[in-house]
Amino acid sequence: MKNINPTKTEAWNKLKEHFQEIEPLHMKKLFAEDENRSLDLAIKWEDFYLDYSKNRITSKTKNLLLKLAEECKLKEAIDSYFGGEPINKTEGRPVLHTALRAGKDAKIEVDGENVMPEVEEVKAKIKSFTNEVVEGGRKGYTGSSFTDIVNIGIGGSDLGPVMVTESLKFYQNHLNVHFVSNVDGDHVHEVIKDLNPETTLFIIVSKSFSTQETLTNSTTIRSWFLRSAPQEAVSKHFVAVSSNVEKVKEFGIDPENIFPMWDWVGGRFSLWSAVGLSISLAVGYSNFEALLKGARKMDEHFKNTDFAENIPVQLALISIWYNNFFGAESEALIPYTQYLHRLPAYLQQATMESNGKSVDRNGKKVDYQTGTIIWGEPGTNSQHAFFQLIHQGTKLIPADFIGFKHSLFLDKEHHHKLMANFFAQTEALLQGKSEEEVRSELQQKSLSEEEIKEKVPFRVFDGNKPTNTILIEKLTPESLGKLIAMYEHKIFVQGIIWDIFSYDQWGVELGKQLASKILEEIENNALQNHDSSTKNLLKFFIK
Ligand code: F6P
Repeated sequence: MKNINPTKTEAWNKLKEHFQEIEPLHMKKLFAEDENRSLDLAIKWEDFYLDYSKNRITSKTKNLLLKLAEECKLKEAIDSYFGGEPINKTEGRPVLHTALRAGKDAKIEVDGENVMPEVEEVKAKIKSFTNEVVEGGRKGYTGSSFTDIVNIGIGGSDLGPVMVTESLKFYQNHLNVHFVSNVDGDHVHEVIKDLNPETTLFIIVSKSFSTQETLTNSTTIRSWFLRSAPQEAVSKHFVAVSSNVEKVKEFGIDPENIFPMWDWVGGRFSLWSAVGLSISLAVGYSNFEALLKGARKMDEHFKNTDFAENIPVQLALISIWYNNFFGAESEALIPYTQYLHRLPAYLQQATMESNGKSVDRNGKKVDYQTGTIIWGEPGTNSQHAFFQLIHQGTKLIPADFIGFKHSLFLDKEHHHKLMANFFAQTEALLQGKSEEEVRSELQQKSLSEEEIKEKVPFRVFDGNKPTNTILIEKLTPESLGKLIAMYEHKIFVQGIIWDIFSYDQWGVELGKQLASKILEEIENNALQNHDSSTKNLLKFFIK
């Protein structure tokens, strides 16, 4: 991969000049001047309809952003990504979560070896294990079938599986799936308090198998389990997903019950691997396969489509436009379905752990903004919470609105109300409400001129707030797979253009190191050197 400082490209400098023209313009004017705008700035692909016309861009902006991608050698970088080159250079690994969904006929090499047979072998293991558990053939130590599954993991070993199982709850079978992630003992005790050890299956998910939270929770759960079950029952009730097989064995898991994963799959992109075992158990293997199929289709779209019509590329470039030229700091993600309520949390890790970097690929401090802050909640709940700030606050918050043409329970009355809000919000954000409009509304209420004058400023909406609308036919395992892969590739494109390494996460290490030092001090009641703030807080805690 080439290391190109984006700010030194010709396109960047032209974008800087172009920003001066665009910044004062209202999108209303852009719509009024061009009746084809909403068709030109939209992409229809499979069951997806992306409308990005409600953005503060013109065709010139689009062309300059495409030029930026070209100058930053995005095409070549995509080939390196899918081709298995070690693009995660600081950890010396390729980034191949795409191989997990590439299909059995693909050939993808790591160090000269085709990894696909291994990938297919693990998928076959997930399939047979899933079928045995779902159909009740696999039994616990007293001969009962499993009713409950507990996924023990954190970060990428938790957020993806939680988000997908929540998103696909409509497709869920009889198994109850629970998640334990936080090292907070109240989390694990709250989850296990109502569980029956005889009918519960535990999946320990940890790529490294050295994560404090996961090992602590697993140990607590195993002790709880052994209070009623004999030692030999552990092999029937505990399975693990990890790339550190030796450590898993040390923990006492039967080697038969280990689902391997690989160094070339990053934790936050691993739900497509055996890390997604809880997903497969919750919704059945065929739905898990459909999820992979959706992601594969998005991979193909991303790899093979001209950048001008390429969904992840367009989303990434627009986001760079706001981040680096408008100075926007965050992006909101508003799914208009309660099922996707964990998508923002999932994408926080995927986006912020990936692109929260301030050193470029040459190892030099960057002097431009990188990673965006992601946040959000489902609509319409979010409308009654933080939309005030998006509509009338001082910050520019570009937002993605994700909606579905059909609901799952087919309740038309609800769905029409939901979607009316979905369309209304992006229109309101675009149009705003002018002083004249507010005035005439108040005049109709027969208010005095003095009262009108006093009220007007608070009721004006500037509008001109950018949104992308992603309208999808229906929430299915396949469309969800496409949606997640879409954001994965958006993250990749941004990392390439910002000239950073998106696939390491050194920034999480310092806190971990300090926590283990402080833990020792707490346990031995022997405080070492700290800044005075930390020291006094620790004294208060220990006393
Ligand atoms: O703390 C960061 C992190 O390394 C994430 O990148 C990862 O998803 C998470 O911890 C869990 O790691 P593991 O799967 O190795 O337990």
